[in-house]
Amino acid sequence: MTVQLTVLKEEQASETRVAASPETVKKLKAMGVSVTVEAGAGVKSGFDDNDFKQAGASVTKAIVASLKKADVVVSVRAPSAAKIKSMKANALVIGQLNPYQNAAGVKAMASQKVQAMSMELMPRITRAQSMDVLSSQSNLAGYKAVLDATAEYNRALPMMMTAAGTVPAARVFVMGAGVAGLQAIATAKRLGAIVSATDVRAAAAEQVESLGGTFVMVEPDEGDSGETAGGYAKEMSADYQKRQAELVAEHIAKQDIVICTALIPGRPAPELVTRKMVESMKPGSVIVDLAVEQGGNCKLSKPGKIVQHKGVALIGHQNVPGRLAGNASELYARNILSFIDAFFDKDKKQLAIDWEDEIVLGIGLTRGGEIVHEALAPPAKAAPAKKKPAAKKATKSAATRHKTAARTAAKKPAPRKRAAKGA
Ligand code: NAI
Repeated sequence: MTVQLTVLKEEQASETRVAASPETVKKLKAMGVSVTVEAGAGVKSGFDDNDFKQAGASVTKAIVASLKKADVVVSVRAPSAAKIKSMKANALVIGQLNPYQNAAGVKAMASQKVQAMSMELMPRITRAQSMDVLSSQSNLAGYKAVLDATAEYNRALPMMMTAAGTVPAARVFVMGAGVAGLQAIATAKRLGAIVSATDVRAAAAEQVESLGGTFVMVEPDEGDSGETAGGYAKEMSADYQKRQAELVAEHIAKQDIVICTALIPGRPAPELVTRKMVESMKPGSVIVDLAVEQGGNCKLSKPGKIVQHKGVALIGHQNVPGRLAGNASELYARNILSFIDAFFDKDKKQLAIDWEDEIVLGIGLTRGGEIVHEALAPPAKAAPAKKKPAAKKATKSAATRHKTAARTAAKKPAPRKRAAKGA
């Protein structure tokens, strides 16, 4: 039986992306997969129904009928309860399913007995780099954040020497030098700004400097890299936090644009920019809060709004990758294609999902009517899975990663407390 794949049209008005592109449809067809696209799914990304048809997909308005026979369902956001109800048992559902904030959706997918895969939980391992949606989307967000800042900022970024006098270069400060932050540094640098950045991870210093930015960070405590084994930011000592807070407060007052990108997986964003810091900035300055959907790195920013506070603009656009929908969809669609391709038997032209593989264990939420992800499943259910010798061996890294994330999340103080550290 030919594998049937259905591409959903996103239901949230604010979601502009789509989980397949004409390019990935062609590749899926070449693998022997039959693709059906819900009518209008790609319109906001610049792909119309005909583009998908020409790539070899069927386009349908009868989504319920399509879901009833789909072996694979791909989406950007978690499918609605109504769509989940139409899915067949064992169907593979691939999307950014937001499991930590979408308990009801995860439960519904478990009840429907589908195999739900949450792409944003992809382990950060070499083999999974091409499937890493956080990277593909954050990179675009970091770029767009700088453009959004320049649109609001009523001055130029590069230094300009003119007959009428010199325009000084703007100062851009990037908080959090992960994927989005590094792209923001590169973009601001290309536009001619004087760029600096901070992070709690000492390893970020070299990356910031290689892009031409100045790394702003206090001396780390001896032997402390500032990161967990999984590569994410970790809690620093009280002394470090105090020294860092003083340094950032002093630095931010001299900046024209601040791009906030700091996130902690599965947790509200840490508060890094206090009201006092905002008020220390010159009128006309701009802060872009890319973390606004996770609570914000600055509590004054508001989701979906540009807020003015004492002359400082705080930009809180939501779904920033979706503001570059064409590129964001193309990259996201390739991330999904890479995942399917890695678990597809090319000879039999059938799915070959390996539930002992660390990628599948890292992103798999539900299977056979159960919630199986280690960070979500009740301990009683999670425990037996760990006892299986094969699973234990194959999943050590992913399991450890998620356990660490869950443990870290549990131990981490509330974001306001972390703010003291980051700030
Ligand atoms: P993220 O989106 O979780 O956070 C963004 C940045 O904010 C991180 O650099 C983090 O250290 C920083 N941050 C968190 N709390 C902070 C605080 N209080 N003050 C200042 N900065 C703070 O991170 P992202 O972009 O997902 O990257 C996390 C790590 O994963 C990085 O080390 C990155 O290089 C690595 N990575 C590895 C990949 C792979 O091996 N395949 C792929 C992509 C990223």
